[in-house]
Amino acid sequence: MLSTLIKGGTVVTATDTYAADVVIINDKIAAIFGPEASPPGPWDITIDAVGKFVMPGGIDVHTHLDMPFGGTTASDDFESGTRAAAHGGTTCIVDFAIQPKNNGGHGSLRSGLDAWHRKAEGKAAIDYAFHMIMTDVTDDTIAEMGRVVSEGVTSFKVFMAYPGALLVDDGQIFRTMQRSAELGALICVHAENGFPIDILVEEAIAKGHTAPVYHGLTRPEIAEAEATHRAICLAEMANAPVYIVHLSAERSLDEVVRARDRGLPVFAETCPQYLFLSDDDLARPDFEGAKYVCSPPLRPRHMQEDLWRGLRTGNLQVVSTDHCPFNQKGQKEMGKNNFAKIPNGLPGVETRLSLLWNSGVRQGRISKNRFVEITSTAPAKIFGLYPKKGTIAVGADADLLIWDGDKRHTLNHANLHMRVDYSPYEGVEVMGAPSHVISRGKLVVDHGQYIGKKGDGQFVKRATFSYI
Ligand code: URP
Ligand code: ZN
Ligand code: ZN
Repeated sequence: MLSTLIKGGTVVTATDTYAADVVIINDKIAAIFGPEASPPGPWDITIDAVGKFVMPGGIDVHTHLDMPFGGTTASDDFESGTRAAAHGGTTCIVDFAIQPKNNGGHGSLRSGLDAWHRKAEGKAAIDYAFHMIMTDVTDDTIAEMGRVVSEGVTSFKVFMAYPGALLVDDGQIFRTMQRSAELGALICVHAENGFPIDILVEEAIAKGHTAPVYHGLTRPEIAEAEATHRAICLAEMANAPVYIVHLSAERSLDEVVRARDRGLPVFAETCPQYLFLSDDDLARPDFEGAKYVCSPPLRPRHMQEDLWRGLRTGNLQVVSTDHCPFNQKGQKEMGKNNFAKIPNGLPGVETRLSLLWNSGVRQGRISKNRFVEITSTAPAKIFGLYPKKGTIAVGADADLLIWDGDKRHTLNHANLHMRVDYSPYEGVEVMGAPSHVISRGKLVVDHGQYIGKKGDGQFVKRATFSYI
C-alpha cells in the first residue's frame, strides 16, 4: 500500500474552492479533510501544497500521437507525447485511432484500433483512451462500431474535410450518427467543407500563391460555418448528439449557439491556437508561417474574444489541444514550394494549462472553477470518463495537480518536452504551472522533473454518452 498526503492546499474543482488535505491510498483519492480535522498518519509521502491549488489533472480529448498524416507522421509518439503532457499537467488524453487505408482500399476498425493499442501499450506516461476515426462507412464498419463501443471506445470522428484522404460523405456521416444514437456513442466532426476548399487551393497554386498564408485564405470561415451547420442538421435528423472538434471562428460558434438554444445536444471544443494565435502568424515571412499551418486555419485576432465568450457562456464546453506536431525541418518544409503540402497540425499538449491559466484565470476572463471545468471535468463528462476522472472526490482516480498559480516561466521549445523543433508560443511569458503532477496515485512530475516511467499509463475504457 502507498499512502500520500497532500497537505495545506486549496482544492479547486469545477464547482468548489476550499481548504483541505487530500489523502491518496494507492491509485485512488481515499479521503478529504477540512482544516478542522487532522488526518491520521503516518504517510509514505507528504506533499506540501501550502499556497497552491490542488486540482484534477488535465484531460486532453484531442491528440494525434504517432499519426500518419499529410505524407509524414506526427513527431510525438505515445512515449514523448504523454511525457510532455504530464509535464504540462495533463494526466489523461484521448487520442484518435484511425481506420486504415490499404492500397486504396480500407481496413477494418478492428485493425485500426489494434494498431493504436500497439502504438500506446507500454509507452504511455499517463492514462489514455481512444476515439476511432472512420475513413469509410460500409455495412461492415457500421456493424463493427458496436464491438468498438463495447471495448470502451465510445466516440467516433468523421471528416468533412480532406477529400480523397479522410473525408466521408454526408450519407456516410448520417449512417454513423444513426448507429451512434443506437449505441450511445458520440460522433465528433471535423467541420470544414473540403470540396470548395480544394478548388480554392488549386486556384491559388495555379496563380503562384504558394506561401503558407494561402493555407488560411483558401479555408475561409464560411467553409467551416457551413459544415458546422450541416453536421448539426445531420445529427438532428439522426437524433444523435454531436461534438464539433477544433471550432475556430465566430460564424461556426453562432451555429452551435443556435442549435443549443433550440435544445439540441450539440457540444463543441476550441483549442489554444485559436485563442492565442492568429492569421498574422500564418503570414510570417521566410516560411515561418508554416509553423502555424493547421486546419481549420488560424483566424483574425478579433475572433479570439468570440471564443472566450463561448467559453464563458458554456456554448463551448472544452478546450483541447488537437496536438499534432510536425518539425519545421524535414516535415513542414515539405510544403516549401506549395502550402498544400505542409502537414497540418500544431504542437500544444504541454502548454494548454499554463496558457489558459495565464490568459483565462489571471487576466480575469474565467474563474478557477471554470478553468477546471473546461480542461478536465467537462471533457471527462462528455467522453465517459467521469467520475473516475475529472474531479476530486473520494473513490476517484488520484490524477491530481498541485498548481502554482504564480509560477512565472517562458515558453520555449528548448525547455518544453514535446518532440518537435519549435513552439508556436516561443518566448511567451506565462504564469501558472504544476509543481507536482500525480497520475493514478504516482508522483510523475516533481518541480519540473519527470520521475515516472514509460508504461505507467494505462488504457481507459470509457462509458457511453450520458451528458445531456
Ligand atoms: O491541422 C490539424 N488539425 N491537424 C490534425 C488533424 C485534424 O484535422 O484534427
Ligand atoms: Zn480535425
Ligand atoms: Zn485533430
